[in-house]
Amino acid sequence: MKAKKIILIGAGAVGCSFLYSAMNRGLASEYGIIDVNKTNVEGQVLDFEDGSAPMDYPFNVFAATYKDCKDADLVVITAGRPQLPGETRLNMVEGNALIMKDIAENVKKSGFKGITVIASNPVDILTLVYQEVTGFERKKVIGTGTSLDSARLTREISKRINVAPQSIQAYVLGEHGDSSVSAFSVATVGGVPLSQFAKKGRINEKEYPKIHEYVWKKAYEIIDRKRATFYGIGVNTANICENIIRDSKKILVVGAFLEGQYKNKDIYTGVPAVLGANGIQEIIELPISTTEQKQFDKSVKQLKEVVEKARKAIKNASSSKKNKK
Ligand code: 2OP
Repeated sequence: MKAKKIILIGAGAVGCSFLYSAMNRGLASEYGIIDVNKTNVEGQVLDFEDGSAPMDYPFNVFAATYKDCKDADLVVITAGRPQLPGETRLNMVEGNALIMKDIAENVKKSGFKGITVIASNPVDILTLVYQEVTGFERKKVIGTGTSLDSARLTREISKRINVAPQSIQAYVLGEHGDSSVSAFSVATVGGVPLSQFAKKGRINEKEYPKIHEYVWKKAYEIIDRKRATFYGIGVNTANICENIIRDSKKILVVGAFLEGQYKNKDIYTGVPAVLGANGIQEIIELPISTTEQKQFDKSVKQLKEVVEKARKAIKNASSSKKNKK
């Protein structure tokens, strides 16, 4: 198997948490880091390289430029301003859309032909911005979507029924954010509907709204206490990359481009999908309840409104650049 090369764009806490998890999983033999703060990149490289010797498999980590994307297998993008206490992810769209446009133009120029995984927030919007600017195949541009939210939901269910999260299929769909949808109606535990566990009193269905609220608010709780979240999203991003690199064909929740699935289209958002070496192999459509469908539709509608803000910010920036010339 060809030695793998991953380029990370954004050497902040999320990016470095991803890289640390990727290295521990032995995902690649080459890790390149790109960031506007070159001194930080130098420090991260010096620190990360000290972890190579004790690893089962050696790796090289280096300060990269966009030229290094050309023969990379994966480009992982975490760059952007982090969420401030009390700020919603969607509030960050204008500034981070411009950063994402610049990154997209540079990756495109490099001749990159691999798979892109994006974690920058608001992730559903920025994944679409990147795909539109690069023109890359939609199945090869993947957002982290509601992968982290789904991990949070399975953990909450796990705590209540005393079954490992790995054996619980519970999905959060839609926006990675305040309008996300916890699809309790199609959750299963080892293939058994969660409703069967509720019937036996193992979990209280009346708690579902409270569990959902805990899940979508969790990032705010973390940010209020430690100013940012990064380990959870870092590991979930590395898990998505591992399933691509291993051509696993596993079903994970990611940010995927809808073309009619879940009765919606023309937007990236969190849905279960089969992941493989070529990115998203197919989107899995769950028979969600009417209520969940309505919530999903509302989430997509909100995302589409914010996409327009991102497109407008990019258009304004481009025209003001032209006027300055
Ligand atoms: C999270 O949900 C902030 O999107 C990040 O942890």
